[in-house]
Amino acid sequence: MIETERLLLREYTPDDFDALYEIVSDPETMAHYPAPFDEERTRRWIDWNFENYAKYGFGLWAAVLKETGEFIGDCGLTLQNIDGEMLPEIGYHIHKKYWRRGFAKEAAQAVRDWTFLNTKYNVLYSYMKYTNEGSWRTAMANGMKKVKEYPDPKNTISYAFAITREEWRRAVLSFRKLTDFGRDIMYSILKDAYSFDERCAQCWDGNWRETDDFFFDHPEIADKYGFATCFNGEPIGFICWDPRNRPEYVEIGHNAIRTAWKGNGFGKAQLTEALRRIREYAGLKEIRVRTNSNLIAPRNYESVGFVLYDRKENPGETAFSGDDLYYRIQLQREQMGNA
Ligand SMILES: CC(C)(COP(=O)(O)OP(=O)(O)OC[C@H]1O[C@@H](n2cnc3c(N)ncnc32)[C@H](O)[C@@H]1OP(=O)(O)O)[C@@H](O)C(=O)NCCC(=O)NCCS
Repeated sequence: MIETERLLLREYTPDDFDALYEIVSDPETMAHYPAPFDEERTRRWIDWNFENYAKYGFGLWAAVLKETGEFIGDCGLTLQNIDGEMLPEIGYHIHKKYWRRGFAKEAAQAVRDWTFLNTKYNVLYSYMKYTNEGSWRTAMANGMKKVKEYPDPKNTISYAFAITREEWRRAVLSFRKLTDFGRDIMYSILKDAYSFDERCAQCWDGNWRETDDFFFDHPEIADKYGFATCFNGEPIGFICWDPRNRPEYVEIGHNAIRTAWKGNGFGKAQLTEALRRIREYAGLKEIRVRTNSNLIAPRNYESVGFVLYDRKENPGETAFSGDDLYYRIQLQREQMGNA
C-alpha cells in the first residue's frame, strides 16, 4: 500500500469492477486507445493485475481517495513492450471528473519513488500515443524526458519518456539548513541510523544529545558546518564537519542516513555535497574523517575518494567497537594532479 497526500494506492479487488468499468468504457477517457474497453476486457485488466502482483510483486494499483475510499482510477508499474523491449512502465488512468487536479502526477510520483526504493530498475518509462498530451505532460511532471518516438501499429506513433535513477535522486533529494528543522532532528536521525545495534545507543546516546544541543545552541555554526539531506522535503540524514583546524584540515563529524533510506546512494550524495562545500575553503590541505572498522561507513568514504592513512586499535568503551580507521583526501595533491 502506498500513501500520498490525498490517495491510497492499493491492490485491485474484484469489487473494483464497476468503478473501473465506468472509467475505461468511456470514449473520451479512452480516446488515445484503440477502443474503449467492454466488460470482458475490463475483467481481463483486473485479472492481468492479479497475475502481475503474484508474479512481480507490483502491478497497476487501485487509486482511492483517502478521505472517502472512492475509487478514482489506477496507477502503478507493469512491464510493457516499448519498441520491442519489455521495460518497467508507470501507467495511470484517472476518472475524468477528477482530471486536471494533480492526481495522476501525485500517484505517478509515488509509484516512481516506490519503484526506485524497492526494485533494482535503473530506468523507468512511461509511453503513450503521441496525441495523448495529458499522459505525456504527466510523465514530464514525473521528472521524465522524451527519449524515443517510434512507429507503433497500435498508436500510429508512440512516445517513450524515461527517468534514470540518478535523475530521480537529483529530483527527490535536497540539502537544507539544519535549523529549518527543530531541535532534536540530529539526535533522532543518529538514533535511527545506528539502530542496527543497540550497543551504539548505549555508548553514544550522550554524545548524540550533546551534538544536537551544541548545534541548536549555536545555529550559526549548525548552518555553516552541516546540512540536512531531505527526501521530498523530509529530512532523512545529515552531515556536519569541524572547520577549526583549517587550513591544515577539516574533519567530517557525524554523517548519518535514516535506516529506512539506506542503500539508495543517498549517503554518497550527502557526502559528495559536503565535500563540494568543504573544497571551497581557500588553501585547505586535507579533509579527514575517522570511522570504525565495524561500520559500513568505510566503504562510503572510499567510494568518494578517501584514502586510509592510519589504523588504531580501539581501546573502546565496549567490546563491540572495531578499530579506528583514519581516512583523508589530500587536496593539494589533487590540485597538483589537475595542473
Ligand atoms: C492522462 C491522465 C491520467 C492525467 O490525469 P490528471 O489527474 O488529469 O493529471 P494531472 O492533473 O496530475 O496532471 C499532470 C500534468 O499533466 C498536465 N495535463 C493533464 N492533462 C492534460 C491535458 N489534457 N492537456 C494538457 N496538459 C495536461 C497537467 O497540467 C500537469 O502538468 P503540470 O504539473 O506541469 O501542471 C488522464 O487524462 C487520464 O486518465 N486519461 C485517460 C487514460 C490515459 O490516457 N492514460 C495514459 C495512457 S498512456
